[in-house]
Amino acid sequence: MLDGQGREINYLRVSVTDRCNLRCQYCMPETGISYVGHNDILSLEEIAHLVRVGASIGIRKVRLTGGEPLVRRNISQLVHYINDIKEIDDIAITTNGILFAPLAEELKAAGLKRVNFSLDSMVAEKYRFITRSGDLSAVLNSIEKALALELHPIKINTVVIKGFNDNEIMDFAELACKYPLHIRFIEFMPIGDLLFWRRDRLMTSQEIKQRIEQEYVLEESFKIEGSGPANYYKIGGGMGSVGFISPMSNHFCGRCNRIRMTAEGKLRACLYEQGETDLKPALRRSTDDEELKQLFMQTIFSKPKRHHMQSGWGEDNHRMMYQIGG
Ligand code: 5AD
Ligand code: SF4
Repeated sequence: MLDGQGREINYLRVSVTDRCNLRCQYCMPETGISYVGHNDILSLEEIAHLVRVGASIGIRKVRLTGGEPLVRRNISQLVHYINDIKEIDDIAITTNGILFAPLAEELKAAGLKRVNFSLDSMVAEKYRFITRSGDLSAVLNSIEKALALELHPIKINTVVIKGFNDNEIMDFAELACKYPLHIRFIEFMPIGDLLFWRRDRLMTSQEIKQRIEQEYVLEESFKIEGSGPANYYKIGGGMGSVGFISPMSNHFCGRCNRIRMTAEGKLRACLYEQGETDLKPALRRSTDDEELKQLFMQTIFSKPKRHHMQSGWGEDNHRMMYQIGG
């Protein structure tokens, strides 16, 4: 359906858990995290129910996120449920990749179409530093597995942090050259665990692109399936592409097609603005979908025109990235 600004909203991002097996410096504090209680988390059947309601008002694409979606037990079963909803033609997952390889086959069999990996460094110690524990080889193994299973287009999300991984930009570009992978460089946003964010750690998409162009010819930009906010460029004769996501330097709100649902069933029209609609009371109270449908439509209709992140994420934004799922 169209939102209040005339944008077609057909994409639902579902956070299936607020838990994660990593603790990325910019995302989660190391300790002292309070998780949503077991009773408040939606069951897989409840999530599927809400996706079905979303589908009835125009949702066509679903992405499972977290926290880390693969720490949720029986996640393949959820993919299966969603795959059975005939209006949904695209099911993807965003994962840190640690647990993906052993689950890859059953996820694909359940109907998973595509996968995005989050990977900020290809140097083992740096990866361990930024994730506060992660094993790089597990992620690389998972990416290989996704390539072998042809879960294309396979995207890699890389948050560029000046002084940390800006010296790896070329290595990522080379990866896009050698393999059919789409590397998406994301501007570092002041959200999540703000202790790590600093303005001088931000590198804009334009700076990143210029850096790559010192060595590679970037061919005309294009769109790939489900490409959302990134602009992609084929990289000189290579198999993959590089893309740039610029929430800081060039907000893309005018093209936004998405809404988000948290693990406890709250719909969020915009990642950065605060409004939320709680679906759980209506979901657990009645078997009638009409009320849920109305709540979906109200949320979509009131989607803000744009975010105001440049003026700060704000102390009072009570949700962190791992609770919304990016
Ligand atoms: N800035 C930019 N990207 C972020 N992500 C999480 N926190 C931030 C941030 N502060 C990214 C993750 C993941 C995606 C869903 O969002 O690295 O790839
Ligand atoms: Fe986990 Fe992703 Fe947050 Fe890292 S960025 S702690 S992988 S949810």
